[in-house]
Amino acid sequence: MHGVARNFFTLAILYAICGMALGLHMSITHDHSQMPVHAHAMVAGWLMSAVFAFFYHLMPAAAASRLAAVHFWLTAVSGVALIVGLYFLLAGKAAVEPVVATASMAFYAGILLFAGIAFSAMRKPVGVQTVSR
Ligand code: HEM
Ligand code: HEM
Repeated sequence: MHGVARNFFTLAILYAICGMALGLHMSITHDHSQMPVHAHAMVAGWLMSAVFAFFYHLMPAAAASRLAAVHFWLTAVSGVALIVGLYFLLAGKAAVEPVVATASMAFYAGILLFAGIAFSAMRKPVGVQTVSR
């Protein structure tokens, strides 16, 4: 794996390590109040980042575009801000709500950007999609 694909897979693994540690903490303490943080870290973090990693691995032409790098940084920064912000919000720090709201919208902008990248890549002939790197 190279470039954006490797970045997304690295991010996915970090989400899995942190999200499962939180799941274990919730289980051990019998305190499930951070369940939404765990759920989003695991599914929106680990699983979605892994899907993006495999997409860019299979579509090297899309991965090489500048938009793919924008997609990675937008998704990584907003996703981490969303999940860390949500942790503090659920811990009672109401002041972080604007951070969580802004990060949520930026994360959504990331999926819209990905939709554009993916639809454009899918329209290209197969030979163009599978250029080896
Ligand atoms: C060390 C492994 C894990 C532990 C100890 C753990 C623990 C937990 C706990 C305690 C809950 C709260 C259940 C409740 O309050 O109803 C939960 C919910 C959840 N977990 Fe995990 N989990 C683990 C791994 C995973 C993985 C690998 C995924 C997904 C890839 C995942 C996805 C979810 C989701 C989506 C929920 C929310 C379920 C719902 O909405 O009811 N978890 N987990
Ligand atoms: C813009 C980003 C997102 C926002 C603002 C958001 C918001 C929410 C909210 C408000 C809930 C209900 C939480 C509760 O009742 O305690 C929820 C639950 C859930 N969301 Fe999201 N979500 C987002 C993205 C995603 C994505 C991308 C995924 C998966 C790929 C996802 C998976 C889940 C799951 C599995 C639950 C149920 C677990 C739970 O109740 O905590 N979400 N989300």
